[in-house]
Amino acid sequence: MSSSHRGINDNEPSCAFSPDNGVAAMAACYQRFDPAAYLQYNYTPPRADFERKDSIVPWKLACLHRAFTEGDVSGEVLVDIGSGPTLYQVLSACEVFNKVLLTDFLEVNRQELRRWLQDEGGCNMDWTPYLQHVCKLEGRRPSAWMEKAAKLRQAIADILPVDVHSPQPLAPDALPSGGADCLVSCFCLESVSPDLPAFTRALGHIGRLLRPSGHLLLIGALGESYYFGGPGVKIPVVPLNEGQVCDSLKESGFTLIRLEVYTLPQDMRVGVDDVTGVFFAKQRITLN
Ligand SMILES: C[S@@+](CC[C@H](N)C(=O)[O-])C[C@H]1O[C@@H](n2cnc3c(N)ncnc32)[C@H](O)[C@@H]1O
Repeated sequence: MSSSHRGINDNEPSCAFSPDNGVAAMAACYQRFDPAAYLQYNYTPPRADFERKDSIVPWKLACLHRAFTEGDVSGEVLVDIGSGPTLYQVLSACEVFNKVLLTDFLEVNRQELRRWLQDEGGCNMDWTPYLQHVCKLEGRRPSAWMEKAAKLRQAIADILPVDVHSPQPLAPDALPSGGADCLVSCFCLESVSPDLPAFTRALGHIGRLLRPSGHLLLIGALGESYYFGGPGVKIPVVPLNEGQVCDSLKESGFTLIRLEVYTLPQDMRVGVDDVTGVFFAKQRITLN
């Protein structure tokens, strides 16, 4: 199958796909990814409205909080795959894991994360309301957010390049020889893969980073065919349904523990993508 994916004005193709160049075309698309715009589109109200129970970001934070407090996910090393310029996905994890590795394909995103880590200003996002919200979920005063920020800075051991399309997504010496205890990955695999088989292969690649019986917490888009990674940067996405997510996980050696689905309310459909829902999947690796 051959198709082209066009930019916001529908004149300039963002990516041109053929059967052989899908992964390379995706990598080319990402060269124009704009972290500040992406954060603005997805991590401000209405998508991040902490006063609303049906806002997407509080839903994601609640899923992660629950997963990390059930008691079965534990160990020393957690890796977040395709962190992008965001930190929300490791706010609960840093209470359980002493060593958190953030990863992204793009230097601009790794730079954004380093700016927060170094705490010297210049960040495109203020994560304070996120830290406060997760403190509340943990039964702490919102004013404990500074302690939480300090804990997260201490836990982040490195910010590394990653490529989920490589059979070895991280540098060979990035992890302990036994593998990571847990992986988190949010909105990465479906937004960087040219098609469903590539998505499933990428799941298999990241699964190899886990120790036997290690956990994967996967959050992703349902029914999405594109999102904007910046003004005019239209990035194609593999449109997934719940059944496809479950089949791909099974094929890649994972045993599903829980799948939760969120349907986007009409007013969260703000024109930066065509996502209709979000899944949260908790699983452990059985074959690796
Ligand atoms: C939709 S963003 C998700 C960012 C963040 N995890 C979140 O929850 O908002 C997809 C991320 O995948 C990264 N990416 C692009 N190509 C990749 C690849 N081949 N391997 C791993 N990550 C990749 C992008 O740089 C981007 O940060």
